[in-house]
Amino acid sequence: MTRVALVTGAAGGIGRATVAAFARAGWHVVGTDRTAPPGPEAAGRWLAADLGNPEAPAHLVESVSTVEGRLDALIHVAAVQVCKGIEETTLEEWDEVFAVNLRAAFLLSRAALPLFRRSGGGAVVHVASVHAVATSACMAPYAASKGGLVALTRALAVELASERVRVNAVLPGAVDTAMLEAGLVRWASEGRSVEEVKGDLGRRTVWGRVGRPEEVAEAILFLADDRSSFTTGQFLTVDGGATARLSTE
Ligand code: NAI
Repeated sequence: MTRVALVTGAAGGIGRATVAAFARAGWHVVGTDRTAPPGPEAAGRWLAADLGNPEAPAHLVESVSTVEGRLDALIHVAAVQVCKGIEETTLEEWDEVFAVNLRAAFLLSRAALPLFRRSGGGAVVHVASVHAVATSACMAPYAASKGGLVALTRALAVELASERVRVNAVLPGAVDTAMLEAGLVRWASEGRSVEEVKGDLGRRTVWGRVGRPEEVAEAILFLADDRSSFTTGQFLTVDGGATARLSTE
């Protein structure tokens, strides 16, 4: 029996790597993003959907139910990041960040529960962020949404254990993707490129570099498959040690 995973944000840096890691491990992957599939390594099946639309999660799960007939892992990778001070942040931006990063996670799990039940259980993995536990200026909606996602992870883990559904989160630090680069633009200035800012950021981690998407994907795969069969309501930080060191050091 081939296990089935639904991966959101599948066109992004970490999402693409996640699809590839699951496919290598023998899973059938249904990838979804608001865009077209990114390339040949794309999922076994692709669904375009805007997770800002509250009806999208149910439609996605319905399609998996109809076509694949089972679901073993639900991986919520999609997110929006707005890097602005609170006076510049609009209500629309706040709502979009919360709709994609947090509300979609609730709606996806709610829609997937009957399918998990039919499959005899399953695993949910939320991709949160180190910004759930430590953050910087101009990240309020993003940090708040990721903090909410961590709390949601814990709550669902407690509630869904009786359904044999494990719920865990991965908290990445700086990982080399389009989202990281877009965020770093605010620190780049004349004479200092985004590449240089990224290099400086990486050197300040304990491990001395930014992460690769594949390194996060392996942590996601671990939390979705049976190697983590006794792990639920937990948070795996993949940040090169960035949050291990005191900022006052
Ligand atoms: P990315 O920007 O490459 O990928 C994010 C994906 O989410 C994109 O493909 C985008 O189209 C999709 N998305 C955004 N809004 C959507 C919507 N309304 N409907 C459907 N899809 C939508 O970013 P990356 O780095 O791959 O991020 C993946 C996850 O990792 C996110 O949850 C992010 O918050 C998290 N993360 C990333 C870090 C980094 O340094 N790259 C650090 C910490 C967490």
